[in-house]
Amino acid sequence: MWLPEGGDATVNSPLTEHDTVHDVLGVGFGPSNLALAIAIDEHNATAPREGRLNALFLERQPCFGWHRGMLIDDATMQVSFLKDLVTLRNPSSDFSFLCFLRERGRLIDFLNQKTLFPLRVEFHEYLEWAADRVRHLVAYDHEVTSISPVRDESGTVVFYDVTCRNPRATGGSVTYRARDICVAVGLEPHLPPGAELSDRVWHNSALMQRVGELVAARTPVRRAVVLGAGQSAAETVDYLHRSFPEAEVCAVFAKYGYTPADDSPFANRIFDPEAVDAYFQAPSEVKQTLFDYHRSTNYSVVDMELIESLYATAYQEKVAGRERLRFLNVSRISGVTPRPDGLLDVAVEYLPTGELQLLRADLLVHATGYRPRDLTSLLGEAAKVCLRDDSDAVRVRRDHRVETASDVQAGIYLQGGTEHTHGLTSTLLSTTAIRAGEIQRCLVDRLAMPSRQPTAA
Ligand code: FDA
Repeated sequence: MWLPEGGDATVNSPLTEHDTVHDVLGVGFGPSNLALAIAIDEHNATAPREGRLNALFLERQPCFGWHRGMLIDDATMQVSFLKDLVTLRNPSSDFSFLCFLRERGRLIDFLNQKTLFPLRVEFHEYLEWAADRVRHLVAYDHEVTSISPVRDESGTVVFYDVTCRNPRATGGSVTYRARDICVAVGLEPHLPPGAELSDRVWHNSALMQRVGELVAARTPVRRAVVLGAGQSAAETVDYLHRSFPEAEVCAVFAKYGYTPADDSPFANRIFDPEAVDAYFQAPSEVKQTLFDYHRSTNYSVVDMELIESLYATAYQEKVAGRERLRFLNVSRISGVTPRPDGLLDVAVEYLPTGELQLLRADLLVHATGYRPRDLTSLLGEAAKVCLRDDSDAVRVRRDHRVETASDVQAGIYLQGGTEHTHGLTSTLLSTTAIRAGEIQRCLVDRLAMPSRQPTAA
């Protein structure tokens, strides 16, 4: 007799709220799964009834939001608007950035700027507009807390039960069942070891909200310290310098100077859809070499324009004799002590000599990057059916489906968290449209599997 493995449900286990078996449940609804939702919606619009995908996307935020904490007024995208949610997959889609501009009455005004790189704020508006058009496929305020395999009588995993925290559901949670899932939960803020966040110590991902609160409360800011040397760090330094005209802003980083991002045309080809094929096929040492050669297209680098602008500001201040913008290079923060008056004592070590300087600061911003969310803990029980490589990373097929044990039919697709198999574009927007199309086509093909023919839940 077949017995379910620990934690797994069976096809006869009751669902708490919903009886529908979805063809696909999306976990997270950022740009990656938004692009997939659009690909599915466009497919469903023309497919015969039996060929349509029944999809639902689960997002923990109360409404669509893309890196809201870094929507700095003048920050621009680092990807061409032609790499929007659809254009590379379907240039005639009406979900394109250009169609959005036309609808907002800004098409000609945008063109006159002669740029491929929209404001980040404007791209966010585009993403919100697109998300609103597929709102029938999304459940907001749904934070996925567990994913469990569901086995049929033969022991084969045929579904996943995806449980979400939802304040409006009975008991505060709700469970959905799906034949396949697509996980696209993005990155999470990364902090230095031992760093503790507080009212005065933030990660840059909360920059806009936190600055807004300080400005609204008229809290004086005399000195702000920013740790980090990447794009977010440089943007944070610039933004704080502009937002608090009386404050000194100290940028602390271990490098000698900011490194410019390599956005030259040949290097940019690492973001082409074909580069994903090359990377995927390559042996692991070639993958590593490619990654190392081209990490300066994305990691710990800053747009040249911003580097030059920060330098020019610092030099102007030097000429004027009032230096508000300071760069403490080849340095690290060796300690942070909150003071009784609410301020911070930030100890900065100059690495060449070990010399310490104490900065009394009103705030400290860790602009220390992002890292992939822990997939194993998110997948929970479902992680146990995933196969792993020698480095214990999940094995992923070219079609973005995780390789699973032979008794698993239900698929887990990944968007993001696949840098080790699909390369640098994994966490970026460059191939979002293409990847969404690849996954959507697989999901449609899987509808035809004999075991996928109408089943009672
Ligand atoms: P993303 O992180 O955007 O979305 C994941 C979603 O999953 C979020 O909405 C989150 O709330 C949700 N979620 C997480 N856990 C969940 C759970 N348990 N249950 C339910 N929902 C959950 N790239 C690029 O190519 N060009 C660019 O210009 C930029 N610019 C840029 C600026 C800034 C400030 C940052 C931080 C990053 C970028 N990026 C970028 C990179 C960025 O990772 C990329 O633009 C997309 O955000 C990737 O989209 P995803 O949907 O994969 O993740």
